[in-house]
Amino acid sequence: MAKAIVIYETTYGSTETMAKAIVAGLKEAGVDVELKKVLSTEVEDFKDMDAVVLGCPTYHHDMIGTMKTFLFKMKKADLKGKVGAVFGSYGWSGESVEMLSDTMKHIFGMEMIEPGLKLKGTEVLTGEKECKEFGKKIAMSIKEGRGK
Ligand SMILES: Cc1cc2nc3c(=O)[nH]c(=O)nc-3n(C[C@H](O)[C@H](O)[C@H](O)COP(=O)(O)O)c2cc1C
Repeated sequence: MAKAIVIYETTYGSTETMAKAIVAGLKEAGVDVELKKVLSTEVEDFKDMDAVVLGCPTYHHDMIGTMKTFLFKMKKADLKGKVGAVFGSYGWSGESVEMLSDTMKHIFGMEMIEPGLKLKGTEVLTGEKECKEFGKKIAMSIKEGRGK
């Protein structure tokens, strides 16, 4: 069974809502998924994963500090060639999503699904379908053998 891990950070819960719907989409597409917050994720959690999905909102045109620090921990895992995807809630600029995607592509050598999924905080409650579809897109990418 294909395996994915979804790791996120949030302050007010919008990115968490997105994370849960993406997980639901992955599960509906037959992927075994783990959902974790950044601070409870360890390097060992990446073992045997076919895809890694990161979620982070944008504050002050930047990602949340805990996610930034986490990327140095994540660098210790061998993620080269694995499928990667990013999502996040935002207000008006939403830089976190591209920032994370860039690091996953250029530093970790992952096969990124681009563009990542960005939803305004005001759109999250009506965005469940879009998040589920994004989850299914990730599942499709794994099944097509991207990241192998
Ligand atoms: C103090 C503060 C700064 C923010 N800065 C930005 C920003 O620079 N760019 C942006 O797109 N949204 C910004 N936002 C909006 C948040 O990204 C938005 O509310 C998002 O839905 C929060 O996601 P979360 O509930 O997962 O934490 C800011 C919000 C606050 C409260």
